[in-house]
Amino acid sequence: MSEKIEMQLGVDVGGTSIKGAVVDLCTGELAGAIRTELTPETATPADVVSAIGRIASAVGWSGPVGVALPGVIDGSSLRHAPNLSRAFEENGALACLRSAESANAVLINDADAAGLAELTYGDAGLDRDGLTIVLTFGTGIGSALLHNGDLIANSELGSLASANGRFEEIASGRAISTEELTPVEWARRAQPFFDELEAMLNPSRWVVGGGLSESFDRFASRLELSKPISVAHLGVHAGVVGAAVAAGGRVRAPAEAAA
Ligand code: BGC
Repeated sequence: MSEKIEMQLGVDVGGTSIKGAVVDLCTGELAGAIRTELTPETATPADVVSAIGRIASAVGWSGPVGVALPGVIDGSSLRHAPNLSRAFEENGALACLRSAESANAVLINDADAAGLAELTYGDAGLDRDGLTIVLTFGTGIGSALLHNGDLIANSELGSLASANGRFEEIASGRAISTEELTPVEWARRAQPFFDELEAMLNPSRWVVGGGLSESFDRFASRLELSKPISVAHLGVHAGVVGAAVAAGGRVRAPAEAAA
């Protein structure tokens, strides 16, 4: 009989920082402190491997690591990752992350990781009817589509273009901080994004994660939406938790397993 993994290290590689923690897969809670490394400017695969190694040794972890990356995992390369080095786009670029001798990583897109965490431990998992759109507002805008309880990976909705540039360039968490946008100014830019997605995909609800989850009320209250919007249940840690789930799977708590 195979033994269930109950703890799993998850690492979320962002354009600004690389965060990791051991996650309790029964509850989705962090089982230890978050370790944070600054993402080096235009981080290469080797930089990311080193950062994962430092985080793993800081928490005393050996074995596979779930790693969320800010781009589309396409075989052995990473596409659509403007916040990492272009070296990630080369064929074979992800091999050093997956290699058992270095990071030993199981890879997932960062917003998909956040979506997987919501599906597994948040309210989105209860909603088996219709489409939930999870949007993460951080250095870029990530997206995850949760349809009837399944994750549809690699949606990349943040790259939708507006008259003034891609929405992830004009309405991301980074745009808010570098341009010092007020909630009203941000909503003026973000509203057309939500309107476009609503017209195209007809979601039944929205979930907002990433850095913006910390100031969700101030910003989201400025949007005019016909469907409910809520903050990610796992907040800014959703990517770390989802990365851990991608590597270890969910472990049912004894009470649930017996039900
Ligand atoms: C990437 C997405 C990612 C998002 C959030 C975008 O630049 O293309 O894959 O999910 O940033 O990090």
